[in-house]
Amino acid sequence: MKQALVCVSFGTLVENGRADLEAVETALRDAAPGRAFFRAYTSSIIRRRLQARGVAAQSLAEVLEMLAQRGFEDVCVQPTHLLCGYEYDKIKAETAEYQSRFARLLLGEPLLAGTQDLQAVAQAVAGIWPRTPGEALVLMGHGTDHFAGVVYPALQSAFALQDRDDVFVATVEGWPSLAEILPGLRARGYKSVHLAPLLLVAGDHACHDMAGDDPDSWKQQLQAEGLSVRCTLQGLGRQPRFQQLYREKLDRMLG
Ligand code: CO
Repeated sequence: MKQALVCVSFGTLVENGRADLEAVETALRDAAPGRAFFRAYTSSIIRRRLQARGVAAQSLAEVLEMLAQRGFEDVCVQPTHLLCGYEYDKIKAETAEYQSRFARLLLGEPLLAGTQDLQAVAQAVAGIWPRTPGEALVLMGHGTDHFAGVVYPALQSAFALQDRDDVFVATVEGWPSLAEILPGLRARGYKSVHLAPLLLVAGDHACHDMAGDDPDSWKQQLQAEGLSVRCTLQGLGRQPRFQQLYREKLDRMLG
């Protein structure tokens, strides 16, 4: 039986971000050696821009169509997305349309799909960046107005329950924003902040909105508060602990 693994991601145009994504793709590919490996991107803008650069970039539907035509029978799709938001809804719908074309077509979960995932991700982050006296760890998540965006305040709780009251979770495009965590940060009297992406890929948001030189970047806003700021510009995908969490998602899907 011809078997395939499709790793589906939002996609990125930033070179630094490609390394984050490829680290996860490689981990998944290595974890399923019997399966032919394919990648798909959910962002049509990113697909178009990559194609304009001469890089092959296919949507999930295009990859599934090609696999059906090539006679693959057993296909599993693992998203690298962090939460069950709009992108995952799209992936679910596209996968459902192709169910009848394969003997078996499975879809894996995003990284944060339940309570255990929240605990595991908080533990992984805490392990990567241990508490540093006098310094707050501020994590930049993407954020969404999809209800799945509750994972951000939920992660905040998971950190508190793991005795990491030095960790603050905020988002670029959702709730809570940086402005909403600032009062808590001020109240604790921190002198310095470590900014790190709560993003698979350190792409545009990490490079510009988090660590950029514009006055509205998080780094500049925190410096304007009188805090000294250092930035980590690697996505979570580069971290072996997160590669392991994705491998566990794959294992769970394959049973
Ligand atoms: Co965005």
